[in-house]
Formats: sequence, structure tokens, C-alpha cells
Amino acid sequence: MDYTTRNVFECGSATIVNHLPEIGLEAAIQEIITGLHARPKRIASKYFYDKKGSELFENITTLDEYYPSRTEKSILRVLPFRAITDCSEVDIVELGSGDHSKISLFLEKIPVKQLLGIRYFPVDISHPALEASVKELICMFPELAVQGIVADYIHQMHLVSGERKKLYCFLGSTIGNLDRGDAVQFVRNISETMNPGDSFLIGFDRVKEVSVLESAYNDVQGLTARFNKNILNVINRLIKSDFDTEDFEHRAFYNQEEMRIEMHLEAKKDIRIKSPYLKEDSGIKKGETIHTENSHKFEEKDIRLLGEHAELAVKRIFSDENQWFSLVHFWKI
Ligand code: AVJ
Repeated sequence: MDYTTRNVFECGSATIVNHLPEIGLEAAIQEIITGLHARPKRIASKYFYDKKGSELFENITTLDEYYPSRTEKSILRVLPFRAITDCSEVDIVELGSGDHSKISLFLEKIPVKQLLGIRYFPVDISHPALEASVKELICMFPELAVQGIVADYIHQMHLVSGERKKLYCFLGSTIGNLDRGDAVQFVRNISETMNPGDSFLIGFDRVKEVSVLESAYNDVQGLTARFNKNILNVINRLIKSDFDTEDFEHRAFYNQEEMRIEMHLEAKKDIRIKSPYLKEDSGIKKGETIHTENSHKFEEKDIRLLGEHAELAVKRIFSDENQWFSLVHFWKI
């Protein structure tokens, strides 16, 4: 059952709709168990983002080595919002809104009078993160109507209905976390809910020099290593297991064939894993790895192909001067 709450904050109020109970804890546990019994072992990267993980990621985005966030923001800052939406009555749906730092850069440029006609729907899987971000947004933009949606946007598509023009946003190169086929399927699913004239703005991290890519995921401060290992703490809470982050080494490298950064956790020694949900003899051998993330990088041809498969037209590609990152404005014909 969904439930809706009306939250009253300092600067105003906003509703938050929660769709998560539909998905449930059991399905999450099942997914984790299947991954840990598989060979090679894997854990889905969405489990990075508990409170600690979200904090660590936000710190990563400020590192010198981690270029994607700052580059995307530099593009957002100069993005001509009128090229994206010329229409005053629009619903902006941001999938995986996180800390609203990206969309704010876009909203800041919209004249107050026009903001009155805009509704913003941030969608995120983390209720506390969503609540905190909605609270801040309504202070920053009192004219804006905000309705938060707690959902797993990958599996829960039909989030916002109604006749108004829509602008979907999927920023932060989160699309890179999906396997290539899943990315196509995901964009197709959204595309199917879109009406002609609706837009989809997607952030893509581009293929570039391997040394630049690899440093971004192997920072000297070791924040990415802590972020990677923290996933084991999240798993420990979900399946009542006893992983010790100290028993693992952070590994991140560029896979040329797949054009992606891969992150893994490598066991430093033979380890038994105890959990009421796992087989009795579950364990991991010294040198064995758990695959925790893929971060796919894109060429322009990949972006165009994705649009074709999803029946969306590429309207414009906005990039930084080095072509390290692109914001792509797709639209429904
Ligand atoms: C949140 C998916 C954009 O793939 O670069 C950062 C996550 N992982 N450092 C990325 C991440 C390691 C990040 N995204």
C-alpha cells in the first residue's frame, strides 16, 4: 500500500508519496542472497546509498580526481533552460534526485513568474534523503510546487500522471550503472509513458583517457575505497551477516571491452560468511571478488543508438569543452 504524508517544513509544506512498500524487504534480501551465491559474486550498486554511503558519495563529488559531478554542474550552469522547455506549465520529474544540487542549478535560471507554473517531482529511493532535499528546496524556491516520490524508479515507472507537459531528468550519469541492455529498456519504458513534445534530459559520462577514468575511482584520500567497502555494512544490516570491511581491498579499473569502470571488493583472506539467509558453508576465498558496480562510459554513437532504440530523438547534446561529460536532450516525436 502506498502512503502519502503532508510534511510541514519551516518554509512551507509539501507532500511525499511513498511507493516503496510495494517492493518490500523480502525482494531485497532475495536479490542479495542470489548475488552472493553467484559466481562471480555480486551486490547491486543501489545498496551503496544508506546514510553513510550517501554522505561518502557527496564527499567524493568534491574530490579533484572525481570530475563527473563538477563537469556536469558546469554544463548545467550554462544550460539555456528555454532550449529545454519553452512551456510555462511543465512537470519536472527527476529520477534519482539525491541532494537536489543539480536541479537547483537549472531552477535558479527560471524567472519567478514562470516557476509558479512548474511542478517538481523528485523521485528517490531514500526517504530521509528525499525529505531533507524537499525541505531545502521549498525554502530556495517558495513559488515552486514540490511533491516528493519515494520509489525504485527502475521498476516503478508510472509515477506522475496527467496531461501536463513533462520534462524527465536522469542526471549524474546514474544511467552508467545499468548494463547496456537494461539502460535501453529503462529509457524505453519511460519513453512509452511520454507524450509527443515531452523531453528527457540524461547525463552521460563520456569515454576518455584511461588514466583520467581510473584516477576518478581510485582517489588518493581513499574515499572511494571507503564508499565501496561501506556496501558490506548495508548488506550486514539487511541479511544480518557479519562481513568485516577490513577483510577486503578496494579494486577499480577500466574494462576496455565493455567501456566501463568496474568496482570490486577483493577478499584479503579466506572468510566464512554467517547469515540466517545464506547456505551454512558460505564463504569467500582469498583473492575472490565481489562485483559492486559498473559505471559505463559513452561515445556519441552509443547515445544516438540509445535514443533510436527508445524511440526518442536527440534534440541537442550539451558538453564541456573537453567532451568529458554530456547532457543530452532527448525528445518524444
Ligand atoms: C553515482 C553512478 C554517478 O558511477 O561514477 C562514484 C557512483 N562510484 N564513485 C559513478 C560512484 C564510485 C557514480 N554514480
